[in-house]
Amino acid sequence: MINSSSFFIDLAYFFSATLFIYGLRRMSSPISARTGIWIAAAGMLLAVAASFAHPNVTGNHWLILFAMLIGGVFSFIHAKRVVISEMPQMIALYNGLGGGAAAAIASVELLRAAEHGPSQRILAVAGALIGCIAFSGSLLAFAKLAGWAKFGNWFSRRQTAYVAMMAVVLLLGFILSFSNTAHPVLLLMFFVLALLFGVFMTSPIAQADMPVLISLYNAAAGLAVAFEGFVLGNPAMMVAGTLVCAAGALLTRLMARAVNRRLSEILYSGFGIPHEINETTTQYGHVNEVDAFDAATTMAFAEEVVIVPGYGMAVSQAQHKVQELTQLLEERGVNVQFAIHPVAGRMPGHMNVLLAEAGVAYEKIHDIGEINNEMKKIDVALVIGANDIVNLSARTDEKSPLHGMPILNVDEASSVIVLKRGDGQGYAGLDNPLLQHGKTRVHFGDARESVQEMISAIKSLD
Ligand code: TAP
Repeated sequence: MINSSSFFIDLAYFFSATLFIYGLRRMSSPISARTGIWIAAAGMLLAVAASFAHPNVTGNHWLILFAMLIGGVFSFIHAKRVVISEMPQMIALYNGLGGGAAAAIASVELLRAAEHGPSQRILAVAGALIGCIAFSGSLLAFAKLAGWAKFGNWFSRRQTAYVAMMAVVLLLGFILSFSNTAHPVLLLMFFVLALLFGVFMTSPIAQADMPVLISLYNAAAGLAVAFEGFVLGNPAMMVAGTLVCAAGALLTRLMARAVNRRLSEILYSGFGIPHEINETTTQYGHVNEVDAFDAATTMAFAEEVVIVPGYGMAVSQAQHKVQELTQLLEERGVNVQFAIHPVAGRMPGHMNVLLAEAGVAYEKIHDIGEINNEMKKIDVALVIGANDIVNLSARTDEKSPLHGMPILNVDEASSVIVLKRGDGQGYAGLDNPLLQHGKTRVHFGDARESVQEMISAIKSLD
């Protein structure tokens, strides 16, 4: 006879897995992403409730609830306060904690080694190793992005140290996997070395490669959770972990392609080939300035305008003004399109989310491949707070750390207007020859205020 409580628990896991998959599906478009997040969160709540009801979950339930309350309240307050520009480090932090949680589960299960067979112990060890690397690596990535830690190579002969460290970790993992008895000292050594490995792996990786690495750690944390789900026999953890791993792996591949870097190249930079960290200071030559009225009139009398939003648009929250400007131009018969670079802003889909929030029609938004084919037909390219994604040195300067990254070819348009506040560089900290290009005119000021000035100028034309 089927035990009714285990039937309902399995049913709850089934529903939560369905909600994860459906939620993830909805997250693939900025329009439906918000509901997708709520649906996936409901799935997680159901999975947690079902786990609580599981007969194997013994011990002090109040203590577990108390720990959940502390974590829940902290993350709720933190997530509410975080500003959009700090989103990448927040993602790194929460990814890392997921990997750390998986590693913590593994430590408990490996301390009760006798209760598990070799296959479960192998998975526990694998999850612990991957989870520890994702945990310490992501925390260091968080600290670096928040400006609390420096990038750099801490010591020479790193390759030898890494290989030796990994060999010892694997040996310890092998012993822990095939031993029926708990070995607290070996376990401690295993965890310390695995955590150190994550720190050393992240340390030399260049700032420009950090988004790809964070996404990779996200996938790793998912894999660690899935492995520990197998050890615990928890289907919700298996499904959620596998989904996170698959989504993270696809995103990593996509982002590495977007910046034209091979994943092995990025990772190998942590193993001996440091990717150069650019520390140049701005050496702006002469730039042609333009006032808001002239910039607005150029666009108002154009036929084809392309808007290229970047991180600066997000900082100034100019998206609603940009939509207003678009509507005004369209009322005058100008065809306005948007060009989105895959790594514009500071997180995947950053610009799409902001433009969707402002009500920009989806069909006006084009990715780099589509819009670059059209660029020669464009009269005005309006670059709003973007730098790296239109940095000509990526195409022309072999020594540039951005070299090889596909950019939006705005210099092929008949004229270019750049909105920026001053002589700030982009995320990669590089000068941009586009600013001195003969076709380019620069309007200095906060993007939202500049766009507002252009709106007023166009209205004054009527
Ligand atoms: P950036 O290269 O960072 O350039 C931003 C530009 O906006 C700067 O030139 C800055 O110049 C200007 N700016 C800043 N605040 C402004 C404001 N309030 N008003 C007007 N202009 C403002 O941005 P991007 O071109 O979007 O490139 C994104 C970079 O971030 C890439 O290097 C990418 O690899 C990296 N990254 C991307 C992600 C993802 S997944 N999207 C995640 C992490 C890092 P001023 O200071 O002179 O105004």
